[in-house]
Amino acid sequence: MTPTRGRLIALEGIDGCGKSTQARLLAGRLGALATFEPGATPLGSALRGLVLGRDGAPVSPRTEALLMAADRAQHVAEVILPALDAGRWVVTDRYAASTLAYQGFGRGLARRELEELIGWATGGIRPDLTVLFDLPVAVAAARRRGTGDREDRMEAEGSAFQQRVADGYLALATERTDPWLVVDATESVEAIADAVWDAVEVLAGPGGTP
Ligand code: TYD
Repeated sequence: MTPTRGRLIALEGIDGCGKSTQARLLAGRLGALATFEPGATPLGSALRGLVLGRDGAPVSPRTEALLMAADRAQHVAEVILPALDAGRWVVTDRYAASTLAYQGFGRGLARRELEELIGWATGGIRPDLTVLFDLPVAVAAARRRGTGDREDRMEAEGSAFQQRVADGYLALATERTDPWLVVDATESVEAIADAVWDAVEVLAGPGGTP
């Protein structure tokens, strides 16, 4: 018997919003496959280095969008789709909305063209739920400074860029064309995890979570 297809949950937000912690917690609680973009496949890892590295080589906005789309195409083909087809749930730290927020609202590329690119790259695999971790840009920047990690090319763009991305995410979430949950990422890690879990239980429906 073919298993029921799994569900895809995407976690989104600006750099430093805490989504990676929540991705780990949610995937653990669900027994889901935890994955991320960009860079979860061998090819994707090389693409990540190209697109986020800070060696000074210029990357045009369109090139940036294409590299993110290439990473996603490989991610879907190699990781996400096989898992969903096998009936597994998948939690991904970033997915299509990252491209709309960063390359669209952040870099100013046309929304409709990006939607086409994403649809083509993913073969139409859309998330069953996208969770946005909403955090003021200044708070996220302070958290990032606290980690002491070297900034990647996106993080180095500065607060005006991060603000456009943050506003873009909220605009996408309020369109409600796909299921979105917006959580207040200033809350405690536990409170946020509980809010996400409540939404995931609704998504699972009467059959329950896996
Ligand atoms: P991420 O791995 O979440 O950052 P971190 O190293 O802090 O965990 O994301 C890397 C960066 O890539 C982030 O700044 C957002 C950016 N990005 C895009 O611009 N477009 C995309 O489509 C994706 C998936 C990520």
